[in-house]
Amino acid sequence: MIRTHTCGQLDESHIGEEVILTGWIRRIREIGALVFIDLRDRYGRTQIVLEKPSLVEKAKELGLEYVIKVKGRVRRRPEKDINPEHPTGYIEVVAQEIEVLNESKPLPFLPENEIKASEETRLKWRFIDLRRPVMQKNLMIRSRAMNITRNYLHERNFIEVETPFLTKSTPEGARDFIVPSRLNPGKFYALPQSPQLYKQTLMVSGFDRYFQIVKCFRDEDLRADRQPEFTQIDIEMSFVDVEDVLQLTEGLIKAIFEDILKIEVKTPFPRLTYREAMERYGSDKPDLRNSIQLIDITDEIRGFGIVESIKEKGGKAIALPVPHNFSRKEIENIREEAITLGSGGLLFFKKFDGKVSGQLARFVNPDRFEDNRTYLVVADLGEKPYRILGELRNRIIKRLNLIERDWSFLWVKDFPIFEWNEDEKRIEPAHHMFTSIYEEDMDRFEKLESKLEKLMPRLRENDPMAIKEFSEYIAGIRGKQYDLVINGNEIGSGSIRIHRRALQEKVMHLIGLTDEEIEKRFGFFLKTLEYGAPPHGGIALGFDRIVALLTGNESIREVIAFPKTTTGQALFEEAPSEVEEQLLRDLHIKIIEK
Ligand code: AMO
Repeated sequence: MIRTHTCGQLDESHIGEEVILTGWIRRIREIGALVFIDLRDRYGRTQIVLEKPSLVEKAKELGLEYVIKVKGRVRRRPEKDINPEHPTGYIEVVAQEIEVLNESKPLPFLPENEIKASEETRLKWRFIDLRRPVMQKNLMIRSRAMNITRNYLHERNFIEVETPFLTKSTPEGARDFIVPSRLNPGKFYALPQSPQLYKQTLMVSGFDRYFQIVKCFRDEDLRADRQPEFTQIDIEMSFVDVEDVLQLTEGLIKAIFEDILKIEVKTPFPRLTYREAMERYGSDKPDLRNSIQLIDITDEIRGFGIVESIKEKGGKAIALPVPHNFSRKEIENIREEAITLGSGGLLFFKKFDGKVSGQLARFVNPDRFEDNRTYLVVADLGEKPYRILGELRNRIIKRLNLIERDWSFLWVKDFPIFEWNEDEKRIEPAHHMFTSIYEEDMDRFEKLESKLEKLMPRLRENDPMAIKEFSEYIAGIRGKQYDLVINGNEIGSGSIRIHRRALQEKVMHLIGLTDEEIEKRFGFFLKTLEYGAPPHGGIALGFDRIVALLTGNESIREVIAFPKTTTGQALFEEAPSEVEEQLLRDLHIKIIEK
């Protein structure tokens, strides 16, 4: 190498040594007759001192972010210049020779941790943005987490198998990205939304324990925690039941978090059923860094008109007790939020210093409620009051900083196998259609078809009573599905799979697929279930989300080298873009102007 050390390496043990460093000029300062250069690379920063008049003169030609090579001798800094906070803060390198390896034009922003540049500018100039020490650290942590994952899984007999990117549509509930096939005019590949069908097939092929750190592609609306291409740690195992997958995954998360954050992660993680999670926290991904729980106060409110009429329809009044004395204005704002979340309104009462006040005060028995709380109340049918308060709970905990512990690792499991999609007016799988059902719920599942025959006409009209009846029935048909939730984020999802063709087809029928569609889309896969498919199950973890948690970032864009904007654009390389006319012709594609 053309350097002897990195910019993060030299300390007092090197004093007196002759060294060669390379790096980028972070700063140049002239102090009296001397010039100080702060030289930066991936490993750190080192102070270079120019004392020789010829070098001081040469320094005039240097600029910020120039790449240089410095030969010099390490010496101890004068006492007053020592910076004990910094690994190289005790030494400096007195330059003997400086060579410019490359120059740099003036930059739109300097690669410092604190910058004012907008995210758009940062993404356009991603190669500079990635020079910032925080970004370098994010990607180094990402790489380390990947390495721990590979080691952990290899040590446990997993093998890494790559699966195709040019493939057939996989059903994960998003829109597909498609790729035209030149050799097969008019036909398209789909990029995989996940390797789901391949990993199941690998189990049928006898691989027993598979993993892959793999890109998945989904054309969906983007958010801070969603990218059109993202990375999963994808896992599948044969001859396992729910607990086996949970334990393996816990071990992996523990290994990653303990190594990188130097914290203690206790296993097993708490397990909540979907029902418990909804009833206590109003969410299937509750943030348990705070322990506030929802309470059902349906029977505690007496004689209040709105609540009475909801009660008659079989609805409930649910309360979120918050240890905070909200002002009238604050309550008004929360009411607005509840309404945007789909609530008809928001009721409340308070109990402070033993006295109750507020809208519902006259309708409750104060002795039954804990002191020093504001009780936010939503009365509605089905899951609605839980969901609305669950979302408010997550927001209020953050807003009022009611966080009691740094980390909450949690499993939510046993989701109802299907849910009613009000927008598309159809039944859809809670996870995906390959999820198996608890044996003890199979009787009920067998009767679902005839139940639906009666219910469907009213369901299609989104009749609230029909939806309620459906939810109550389906709550008793639980899928062997589990979600890993960390600090209120859905980090992973998986299930034990169906491994028999008849049951798999039945599920497909129930969600509305015809025989023809089933054969066309899944025929190749269903066939595998007829040739000795073993019982199997697995999980996929959102790797970008894990790294965002490890690095304390809200947005996964901070932990992806070249991410897309929320409108799906890659600003650095400028994609997507138009293509040559000839290429389109070869692909038999014609663009129709809108
Ligand atoms: P699922 O669709 O739940 O399951 O995805 C698994 C995990 O991947 C992460 N994730 C995303 N991360 C960033 N951007 C996105 N657009 C995005 N979409 C999902 C989430 C999620 O929990 N094949 C099944 C897994 C299985 O059953 O084994 C699957 O893909 O953290």
